[in-house]
Amino acid sequence: MMATSQLLEHIILLLLLLSFFLSVQTTAAAGFADKLERGQNLTDGETLVSAGGSYTLGFFSPGVSTKRYLGIWFSVSNNTVYWVANRDQPLGDRTGILIFDDVDRLVLLDGSRRRAWSSNFLAAPAAVVQLLESGNLVVRNGSSDTSLWQSFDHPSDTLLPGMKLGKNLWTGGDWQLTAWRSADDPSPGDYRRTLEMAGLPELVVWHRDVKKYSTGPWNGLNFNGVPERSWFADKYPLRVTTSPSEMTFGYTAAPDAFLTRVVVNHTGATERLVWDVGTGEWRSYCKGPRDTCDTYARCGPFGLCDAGAASSAFCGCVEGFSPVHATPSSQEVKDSAGGCRRDAPLDCAGGKTTDGFKVVPGVKLPDTQNASVDMEVELEECRDRCFADCSCLAYAAVDIRGGGHRTGCVIWKDDIFDLRFVDGGQNLYLRLSKSEFDNRKRFPTLLVATPVASVVVIVLVVFLIWWRSRRRIIGGIPHNPTMAVPSVGLDIIRDVTQNFSNGNIIGQGGFSVVYKGLLPEGRTVAVKRLKQSALTTKGNKDFAREVEVMAGLRHGSLVRLLAYCSESRERILVYEYMQNKSLNVYIFGATNLRASLNWARRLELLKGIAHGVAYLHGGSGESVIHRDLKPGNILVDDEWNPKIADFGTAKLFAVDHAGLDQTIVVSP
Ligand SMILES: *[C@@H]1O[C@H](CO)[C@@H](O)[C@H](O)[C@H]1NC(C)=O
Ligand SMILES: *[C@@H]1O[C@H](CO)[C@@H](O)[C@H](O)[C@H]1NC(C)=O
Repeated sequence: MMATSQLLEHIILLLLLLSFFLSVQTTAAAGFADKLERGQNLTDGETLVSAGGSYTLGFFSPGVSTKRYLGIWFSVSNNTVYWVANRDQPLGDRTGILIFDDVDRLVLLDGSRRRAWSSNFLAAPAAVVQLLESGNLVVRNGSSDTSLWQSFDHPSDTLLPGMKLGKNLWTGGDWQLTAWRSADDPSPGDYRRTLEMAGLPELVVWHRDVKKYSTGPWNGLNFNGVPERSWFADKYPLRVTTSPSEMTFGYTAAPDAFLTRVVVNHTGATERLVWDVGTGEWRSYCKGPRDTCDTYARCGPFGLCDAGAASSAFCGCVEGFSPVHATPSSQEVKDSAGGCRRDAPLDCAGGKTTDGFKVVPGVKLPDTQNASVDMEVELEECRDRCFADCSCLAYAAVDIRGGGHRTGCVIWKDDIFDLRFVDGGQNLYLRLSKSEFDNRKRFPTLLVATPVASVVVIVLVVFLIWWRSRRRIIGGIPHNPTMAVPSVGLDIIRDVTQNFSNGNIIGQGGFSVVYKGLLPEGRTVAVKRLKQSALTTKGNKDFAREVEVMAGLRHGSLVRLLAYCSESRERILVYEYMQNKSLNVYIFGATNLRASLNWARRLELLKGIAHGVAYLHGGSGESVIHRDLKPGNILVDDEWNPKIADFGTAKLFAVDHAGLDQTIVVSP
C-alpha cells in the first residue's frame, strides 16, 4: 500500500518536472525569433522565422544580382522569395537595417541612413511586428487580433493561402500581383494579375494595359476556362467573395495541405506550385497560359480556338459564322485569327423574331467585360430574355454548382471574344438566323430529329453527303470551323489509308477494322471502318448517334473524333492516332510491356480515366454512359495520358454479343 502511493508521488513529480521543462523549452524556442519589439532592429544576416518555421524574413540577393533586398521566403527553399519590401529601391551593400522605431514605423535604412522602404500605420502604444506561420508579416497592437499593417495587403508577385486579389470597396484599396522585372530583379515588371469585376469575376494577366490571358468567368466552382483547378479544390479551396465591403478572389489551404503558392513570373506566366516534401522541389500543378488558345482573343470576334485542331489552324468560327479573311480560292481557310462574320443576318425587329439558339458546347465562355449579368434568373428565363431582346447575341448560365440545374444569366450584346474549347467547358447559346437550322449543310444537327424520322433523315443525309462530297474541294480532312464533326468523302479516306491497304491495318474487332491513315499535312490518324455485317438498320442509326454524341463531348481523357464518312454502304470514323495503343497491351502483355506501367503511371492513368468518366457522367452537362469500359477501350497517347474510346459502337454493337465478363456495365 505504502509503496504504491510512493510510486504515485514519484510519477506525479516526474510529470510535473517534465511539463515544466517542456514549457520552458517551447517558450525558449518561440522566443522572439518571430517578433520584433519596439526599439529592436534587424540587420543584414539576421532573420525572423515564423513560429512553425515555414517562413523566414531577412535580407537577400536575387539570382546573380549583388543588390540587397528585404524579403520573406519559404524556409525550405530560400531562393523562393514571395514578398519583397524595397522592390525598386535596392540596397548597394550589406549595411541595411530594419528598424522598428519609437514612432511606430517599420523602416528600412541603408548604410548612410537613407530610407529604402517604410510601412505606414497608426501609432499604437504596444505595437509589435510578427511574422506569422501563414507567411503574413503583421504589425499588431499587443496581442490584439486586428493588424495595423500586414504584408498580405501589399502583395508582390505571389499569392499565398489567405491572401486576396481584388478590391477593398471600403478603402478603395486594390490587391493585385505584379511580376518581377526579371529573375534577378524584383522591381515591378510589365505583367500584372488582377481580378476583373465588370461582368463576371475573371482573373486577367495584363502586359502593361493589354489583356494577355484570362481564366474565363467564375462559375461558382472555378474559373470557367480552367476547370482543372477543381482537381485540387479539396486541398486548396478557391473562393470569390462579393460583399458590400469587398470583391475578391483568394484561396485557403487545408490543415494537412503542403506549402503552396501562386506566382506570376516575369514572362507573364501564372503558375500554381506545391512543395513536394519527398523530392524537396516545387511541383507545378497548373499553369497558364497553357497553349496558343489561351492567348487572349486569339481568334478575334466570334472566333473559336481549338488547341487540338486536326491541323495547325487553331482558329475556327462559331457555327453560323465564316472567317472574315476567307478568299474564294481557299475554301479551307488555314486560320481565321482575323475573326469571323455572320453568314445569315438575324431577323428580329419590333418584338418579332424568327431567330433561334444553337448550343456551342464545351467552351470557356467569352469575355464578360461588357456582358450583363443577373444572378437571380434561371437558364430558361435567360433564354426568353435573350430571345425578346434583338440586341442579345448569346447567353449562358453563370452558376453551375447545381449540376444540371444551372442558374444565373449572362447576356452578350457585343461581339464575343476569347472563346475556346476547354476540357469540361460550359455551354454557350448563340443566336442564329432561322436559316441555320433548316440548312442542309449541318449534318449532325439534323439528327436531333425524333427516332421515327431518323430513317428518312439517314437516307436524306446519305444523299446530301454524296452531293456535298461532289462539290467539296478535296484537300485532306477539312479543318473544323464549327462544333460539328466534319464529314469527309470516301475518296479522301481511300487516299489516306492507301485504299484500305492490309499493310495499314492496326487493329481488328468483330465489327470493325482499324487502319492507320496519313493526312497530307503529315498527321497520323486512326480510321475505323465498320464491317458490312454490322450495318443493319439499327447499325446505321447507331453510327449516326455516335457521331452526334461524340460531337458534344470534349475532354482530355476522351479520344477525339476528328471526322466521319458515311457514303453508300461505308461507315467510317476517323480518330486521333494513339501511339501507345490501348491499356490491355500493357496490363496483359509481355513482361517488358508490363514493366512500363509503374505504380505512379498507373495512378495517373486511373486519375485520368476517372476524370473522363466523371465528365461523361454529367460534367459535360449531359449524361453519357459508356457501358463498355475496359482496358481495351482505353487508348494511351505518347505522354501516357489515357483516352477513353469506343463510344456508341462498342455499346451498340458489342453489348448484344460480348461476354459480360469482359464488360463492365455501368447502369444509369
Ligand atoms: C537600432 O538602430 C537604431 C538606429 O540605427 C539605433 O539607434 C539603436 O541603438 C539600435 N538598437 C539596437 C537594439 O540595436
Ligand atoms: C467593351 O466595350 C469597350 C467600349 O466600347 C471596348 O473598348 C472593349 O473592347 C469591349 N470589350 C469586349 C471584351 O468586348
